[in-house]
Order: sequence, then C-alpha cells, then structure tokens
Amino acid sequence: MATVLITGASAGLGLELAWQLATARHDVVLVSRDAGRLERLAGQLRAAAGVDAEVLPADLAERDQVEKVAQRLRDPDRPVSFLANNAGLAVGEPFVGGDLAAHERAHEVMVRAVMVLSHAAAGAMVERGRGAILNVSSIAALTAMGTYSADKAWVRTFTEALAIELKGTGVTATALCPGLVHTEFHQRAGITDTYPEIAWLNADSVVAAALADVRRGAVISTPSLRYGILSEVTRLLPRAAVRAVSSDKRLRRHVAQESES
Ligand SMILES: NC(=O)c1ccc[n+]([C@@H]2O[C@H](COP(=O)([O-])OP(=O)(O)OC[C@H]3O[C@@H](n4cnc5c(N)ncnc54)[C@H](OP(=O)(O)O)[C@@H]3O)[C@@H](O)[C@H]2O)c1
Repeated sequence: MATVLITGASAGLGLELAWQLATARHDVVLVSRDAGRLERLAGQLRAAAGVDAEVLPADLAERDQVEKVAQRLRDPDRPVSFLANNAGLAVGEPFVGGDLAAHERAHEVMVRAVMVLSHAAAGAMVERGRGAILNVSSIAALTAMGTYSADKAWVRTFTEALAIELKGTGVTATALCPGLVHTEFHQRAGITDTYPEIAWLNADSVVAAALADVRRGAVISTPSLRYGILSEVTRLLPRAAVRAVSSDKRLRRHVAQESES
C-alpha cells in the first residue's frame, strides 16, 4: 500500500485529498497546524478505509517545522510515494502599507515550504524510481492580484520546471490550478457569496480531476471545462488586459480574502 503525505489536510481540498486517497487504499500522513482536527480525521480514515493514518502537526510558516516534515519525506524506512503540497493561507491586506510579516508568512507556507518539501520528496522518489508530487497553485497564478497571485505563479512555474527535471525518472510533478472552490477558505475569511453559483466548484470534483491528472502525468491540472477555457483565454490575453482585469475591485477583494484565512 502506497503512502501519501498531504499538507493542509485538516480542511478543504486537503481534507478531500485525504478521503479520496484513503478510499483508494493509500496510507496517509496528515500535516497541518490543528493537531486535534488531524487526529479526528486520522481516526475516521482508519475506521472507514482501513488504512494507516499518521498525524504530523506542523506550522509550515516555521522553518524548523518544515524541516520536520522534510525529514519524514526523506525517511527511507517509511517511503512516501505521493506528496500533495496543498496548505494555503492568506494575507487579506494590501502589500503597500500592509503587514509585511503576514505576507512573509504566506510566502513561507505557499512558496518556501513547497520548495523544501518538493526537494525532499523528489530526491527520495527519484532514488526509488517512482512517485508523484502535486503542488496546489491557483488560477490566480495567471493574474496579477497581490502577493497571492505572485506566490501561486511561483508554484505553477516551479512545478513546470520540476516536471522537466523529473522527466524520465519515473516521478511526476503536477500543478493544480483551481478556480473558486467551496472550502473553508472563504468561510474563514468571512466571505459571503459574491459570485454566481456557476463560478464555484466543489472540492470533491476538483480533487477527483486533479488525481486523474496526476495519474496520467499531466503537468498542469485545471479542473472543470469552464476554468480550463478561462485559463486558456487568460494566457492568450495581453498582460495589459490581465492587469486591467486584475485591478477590478471585486476580484481583488476576493483574492485578498481567499488568501486571508
Ligand atoms: N478555495 C479556493 O477557492 C481556492 C482556489 C484556488 C486555490 N486554492 C488553494 O487551495 C489550497 C487549499 O486551500 P483550501 O481552499 O482547501 O482552504 P482551507 O479549506 O482554508 O484549507 C487550508 C488548509 O491549509 C492549512 N494551513 C494554513 N496555514 C497553514 C500553516 N501555516 N501551516 C500548515 N498548514 C496550514 C489549514 O490547516 P490548519 O489551519 O490546521 O493549519 C488547512 O488545512 C491552498 O493552497 C489555496 O491557496 C484555493
């Protein structure tokens, strides 16, 4: 039975990844800050899916705690064959005049931890000749909405570069770039529905599509036809037009709040 390590497993997409992977008979290592929620989830997964579920609490904004997770990924006696770098947090304020420390923490979780954990996992997986890494970016990576867009653009580009380096090793790298998804992200940030229901995706379909893309070795995963089309259109637009759309106050508010929790 293969083992998967999921960051941000206590809620939202990470929680759904844990359920879908455990149901597919994978042992899981669950990482996030909230040890209580992880313990409860681990108990449910053991009972419902009959898998091993390990709890590894860590604040990924803290470098020593990221290293603890990296050590787990490097452990040759307990190989991890799938890493999901999913944890995301947010800033919720402008960069200019905002709290720099909040932007730095978000950057540590969504950029530095992704790099460190990918490095640990890729090294161990390449030695074994198989494995997969899923890094959660966002459709916001294609826009210019605050440090959140910049961090997610880093994840997308980094994952493409990683996929190139990994070619022929038996290890794959996939960047998941979802649009709006019903998770705790918006609830934590106090967002009320300001978008039509058609704009929203559910975590179960996003995760199912992402895992199918991982299985076929896709480098970029953009779940749903509508966000696939939006993504391609955005990529083809002149950047001036992207900046114009990115300056829309409603979108900016959403992205700020998406990255706030
Ligand atoms: N929801 C959307 O519309 C959307 C769209 C595009 C991309 N995304 C991305 O999807 C990913 C998952 O987000 P979500 O929507 O599932 O949000 P969510 O429901 O709020 O879950 C976020 C997860 O990240 C964990 N986390 C936050 N800060 C952390 C830290 N410092 N250290 C360790 N874990 C931390 C949280 O766990 P603890 O609180 O227990 O630490 C939680 O498990 C994020 O990378 C996000 O940027 C979301």
